Amino acid sequence: MDKVYIVANWKSYKTESEAEEWFGELKIPRFAEASRGEQDLEFTNKEIIICPSFTSLPILKSLIINHKSNIKLGAQNISPFDEGTYTGEVSAKQIKDLANYVIIGHSERRKNFAETEKVVFEKLTKTLSQQLIPILCVSEIIQLNDVESLMKDSNMIIAYEPLSAIGSGNPDNPENANDAALKIKKISTNTPVLYGGSVDSDNVKSFTAMENINGVLVGNASLDPLKFLEIIKNA
Ligand code: PGA
Repeated sequence: MDKVYIVANWKSYKTESEAEEWFGELKIPRFAEASRGEQDLEFTNKEIIICPSFTSLPILKSLIINHKSNIKLGAQNISPFDEGTYTGEVSAKQIKDLANYVIIGHSERRKNFAETEKVVFEKLTKTLSQQLIPILCVSEIIQLNDVESLMKDSNMIIAYEPLSAIGSGNPDNPENANDAALKIKKISTNTPVLYGGSVDSDNVKSFTAMENINGVLVGNASLDPLKFLEIIKNA
């Protein structure tokens, strides 16, 4: 059975104390202890990745260690440069201390921060240089043109997120999303493909049940720990 990825993208919501509270309310059995019980199956084979703001990564990292949780962390952005004279940027080396994954090229960054394909490419190479796993977001397959060889040669995840589905309450049709995922798999068979855009606990299974979709990227519905827990269970 393939792993199902469930990624929470908190965007620029939640203070450090709100992140701590969220974690306390997300009652997931410790994966290490997961026995054969049916309840534990709801969490088996699921890679849960929380992507908070940079400011909440340290507290979440220590909570995960203290609770021996298998939850993983991701950053939502990364500097396109190595460490150096780049005020305000957070480099791959700095993120490496705190997280395993990095969201790159989210449509909100492409739109609000004028991130070009060139910048996205630089961010990808910096991420990979520190053995972090990029979660590259695209709204159209053409956006993968420049990164095809990176996809084939490296460990990365692609999130397909149609613009009309993000934050709209109007998700893509699962068959369309599956067709897009198939096109991505044709570029690189082993690259996990996620769907993102208005995923909730009611529709998550319709996406994760699709042959070419390996998980979901969840924005709004990940902010409430109970809703997110339902998404994990139903995925
Ligand atoms: P949404 O966001 O789930 O709120 O639509 C998804 C995303 O922006 O990654």
